Amino acid sequence: MTNAADSQFADKAEYRRVFGHLPTGVVVITGVGAAGEPLGITIGSFSSISLDPPLAGFFIGRQSRTWPLIAAGAKFCANVLASSQAEWCWRFAKDSVDGARFDGITAARSANGSPVLPGVVATIDCSLRETRTLGDHDLVVGAVTDVRVLSDGAAMVFFKGKTGDAHITG
Ligand SMILES: Cc1cc2nc3c(=O)[nH]c(=O)nc-3n(C[C@H](O)[C@H](O)[C@H](O)COP(=O)(O)O)c2cc1C
Repeated sequence: MTNAADSQFADKAEYRRVFGHLPTGVVVITGVGAAGEPLGITIGSFSSISLDPPLAGFFIGRQSRTWPLIAAGAKFCANVLASSQAEWCWRFAKDSVDGARFDGITAARSANGSPVLPGVVATIDCSLRETRTLGDHDLVVGAVTDVRVLSDGAAMVFFKGKTGDAHITG
């Protein structure tokens, strides 16, 4: 989607490199497919949007294969990964999308019925409120329906293409 105000800045490699210096948390957005299968996608752009009303959201690439399947159920859960869960950060970003991303994982269910990965730091349940196309991504806005902290362990931080943790003390 183009807009008259869009810039002509074109160095995609430099764009990616510089944004790689902005640390993010990592969540796996989970949901359930039409046949009841668990679905999940690794997302770094998840954020709180509004407290009143409670809204949270993320940006999803328009080529995503899994998001339309989750969106059809009109609800999702953001699973906040622990720093020790690097394998799942990559697994939910790369591997097959037909449910095999959950192979070997016994997922619980959140309040809205979405999969909860064992050992995650927190979960945020949302009902799908709206989506808005912005360039090659869609902004997904969820109405927050349930929030839980499940562990006091260190959350994952993603920085310069690698997983780690925040090393924040005090
Ligand atoms: C740390 C990390 C953060 C990511 N953040 C996002 C994001 O915010 N939005 C997005 O669309 N893809 C993001 N991705 C890429 C998706 O996980 C990847 O494109 C995935 O293959 C999408 O799966 P799907 O095609 O099954 O939907 C991220 C990947 C990683 C490893």
